[in-house]
Amino acid sequence: MSAIITVTNLHKAFGSFVVLNGVDVTFEEGKITTIIGQSGTGKSVLFKNMIGIMKPDKGEIWYRDTCVTKASEDQLIELRRSFGYSFQGAALFDSMTVAENIAFPLREVLGIRSKREYAKRVGEMLDWIGLPGIEKKYPAELSGGMRKRVGVARSLVTKPEVLLFDEPTTGLDPVLGETINDLVVRVNKELGLTCILITHDIQASFRISDKIAFLHEGAIAEEGTPKQVAQSEHPMVKQFIENSFSLLEV
Ligand SMILES: Nc1ncnc2c1ncn2[C@@H]1O[C@H](COP(=O)(O)OP(=O)(O)OP(=O)(O)O)[C@@H](O)[C@H]1O
Ligand SMILES: [Mg+2]
Repeated sequence: MSAIITVTNLHKAFGSFVVLNGVDVTFEEGKITTIIGQSGTGKSVLFKNMIGIMKPDKGEIWYRDTCVTKASEDQLIELRRSFGYSFQGAALFDSMTVAENIAFPLREVLGIRSKREYAKRVGEMLDWIGLPGIEKKYPAELSGGMRKRVGVARSLVTKPEVLLFDEPTTGLDPVLGETINDLVVRVNKELGLTCILITHDIQASFRISDKIAFLHEGAIAEEGTPKQVAQSEHPMVKQFIENSFSLLEV
């Protein structure tokens, strides 16, 4: 296995408020890795550092042979061509059609100007997510689950190497959450993308991930296969996982 992204000794504080305090984690090429942890522990801050829109105080992130944390603006533009990403709470643009939403990164990230190319790639993506023919619809006309799938399509339309998703299933009912999880597995298996997820959906993360990393008090408190993490002796990890799974049994 080889690492596609390596995070080393990452530190980030806001004023005197320390969020990340020495995060070390690697993401293996072609695998699904999920970051879990309590709300407010810095998962989204880590995510923003990984795509280079937030700079750490100390430490490094490498994507292949590019140092993300020291990348120039030009390198970051290049980097974003390799990453398909979606922020926590990312919504579609309400005033744009589905087709315009999906085509947006083609223009903004790849600089493509051809309407024919937009139409071709948008059509391919809609087929792939199982929603053919909805190009002209507006987000308000779609269900929550359809909107999320269109969001996945928007992240994939540039044909990235890595898919980074911060809370892809939050706000969806369990059945719709499953369709998104299944879609992530298809992205990984059929398109071969490295997938990096952040989620509160612990059960799903244990089922679909090759690796889980638990962020706690500014560092990775536990990492490994779902099985290894489930057997963790770390008190916080144990408690967090037990709480997540016991919710299922009530
Ligand atoms: N730009 C910012 N300025 C100041 N504080 C910030 C900023 N971004 C994040 N924080 C703080 O950093 C901490 C970690 O935030 P973050 O959004 O990474 O948490 P999280 O683990 O993603 O939580 P959740 O699971 O609720 O999404 C929070 O206390 C948050 O208020
Ligand atoms: Mg978050």
